[in-house]
Amino acid sequence: MSDQLIIFDTTLRDGEQSPGASMTKDEKVRIGLALERLNVDVIEAGFAAASPGDFDAIAAVASAVKNSRICSLARAVESDIEQAGAAIASAEAGRIHTFIATSPIHMQHKLRMQPDQVVERAVQAVNQARNLCDDVEFSCEDAGRSEIDFLARIIEAAIDAGARTINIPDTVGYAIPDAFAEMISQLLVKVPNADKAVFSVHCHNDLGLAVANSLAAVRAGARQVECTINGLGERAGNAALEEIVMAVRTRQDLFKIDSQINTQHIVPASRLVSSITGFPVQPNKAIVGANAFAHESGIHQDGVLKHRETYEIMAAEDVGWSTNKMVLGKHSGRNAFNTRMEELGHHFANKDDLDEAFAKFKDLADRKHEIFDEDLQSLISQVELSPQEERIRLLDLQVHCNLGKDPRHASVVLDVDGQRQVEMAEGDGPVDACFKAIEAIVQSKASLLLYSVNALTGGTDSQGEVTVRLEKAGRIVNGQGADPDIVVASALAYIKAVNLLNSNAKANPQETV
Ligand code: KIV
Ligand code: ZN
Repeated sequence: MSDQLIIFDTTLRDGEQSPGASMTKDEKVRIGLALERLNVDVIEAGFAAASPGDFDAIAAVASAVKNSRICSLARAVESDIEQAGAAIASAEAGRIHTFIATSPIHMQHKLRMQPDQVVERAVQAVNQARNLCDDVEFSCEDAGRSEIDFLARIIEAAIDAGARTINIPDTVGYAIPDAFAEMISQLLVKVPNADKAVFSVHCHNDLGLAVANSLAAVRAGARQVECTINGLGERAGNAALEEIVMAVRTRQDLFKIDSQINTQHIVPASRLVSSITGFPVQPNKAIVGANAFAHESGIHQDGVLKHRETYEIMAAEDVGWSTNKMVLGKHSGRNAFNTRMEELGHHFANKDDLDEAFAKFKDLADRKHEIFDEDLQSLISQVELSPQEERIRLLDLQVHCNLGKDPRHASVVLDVDGQRQVEMAEGDGPVDACFKAIEAIVQSKASLLLYSVNALTGGTDSQGEVTVRLEKAGRIVNGQGADPDIVVASALAYIKAVNLLNSNAKANPQETV
């Protein structure tokens, strides 16, 4: 049995199936590159047959990423597998991941197929995929509720047909750690050709046990874990990559295997995913939450000052928390800016990109005294629209607040296709008034699905990072804005979302699996 744990990240596929977390092609490429920096072994970049947008995004990630294997999901359906093969064609190393449900409830009510037909379909799918790609993974959807003897039968057949990874998903988050570990142990014994494949697990978090189940399965012999950054994913999410990786690394005494993850890139990757999806990370989230390494109690602080390991089992720097708090200011030059960005894992593709980001940095430094790493990451995590797509721009904004019952007022000045337009509106609060004024000009008639504000750093001079999710005719877009003034950040986010709605940048919502 191998002593390496393969990390298979599905942020771009299962993570994107989180309601409201759909990402553009460019956003997926940015996350794909961050996953490559983390040294993730396999990146599941999407589900090629779900939509043309998903297909294009997989192809773009496959072309951009060189050092991680790029995978597409496919149902055990001929056309899905064909599209998966085509989408990963440009990858240095590719994988087709095909699946079919194996639980009685799914076979009877969803597939309406007999178990024999399911085995036959699985074998056909693996055979077809192997003709397109050497690396094929087969998943038994809803394995957590499947019968062990049927699982052993279909897995043996899939391995005979050429699957090199066998994934055991707990699709509905039903498993309990010791029973799930027992299932993996039994399969490793019952499947006669088990030694010809890597066993993998893919756990959902409906009972809050996705990470515990994955780790129990690793102890039982699973050698690939499917997970997502920040635990993003369907419903309650998937197992969180950062928790799996750090548990295995920190408890080498128990696991005796390790992953190849460059853990210093965990926090930047978490921030990037949070900022792109607009899903904030809760402060007490393990590893990547703002309080994950903060000690409040006097006894703990005293202990840590005397000897760090008294209360800390990991070093904050090892997962990418910066110890260098205040990094740059308005007198910092291009070189210092570029060097810090590289330290944060961001490499500008060319001089124009560097110049553009540096100009934004200078603009921010003029308004904000201290520039922290979080501010720098926010500068480059915003979606860039082309000048044609950026039809609407914010020129000016005034708000009036008060403590009484009177409505708040906002007046906005926008540039719409080169025309200056001004509107005033009333609202329950300054942001409400501001959005109404913008809407009076742009007339998007979109529904606001989410509005979230997150302080990027500590202190009242922090930039507020705002996400606005708009929906129109089934199309969902996320606009982000960051500014020391949260009303300005909100207006920028709203305008970005409207520009996105009017552009072709956003893929259509994904068909969920
Ligand atoms: O949860 C699940 O079963 C899945 C499979 C398609 C792997 O996401
Ligand atoms: Zn899943």
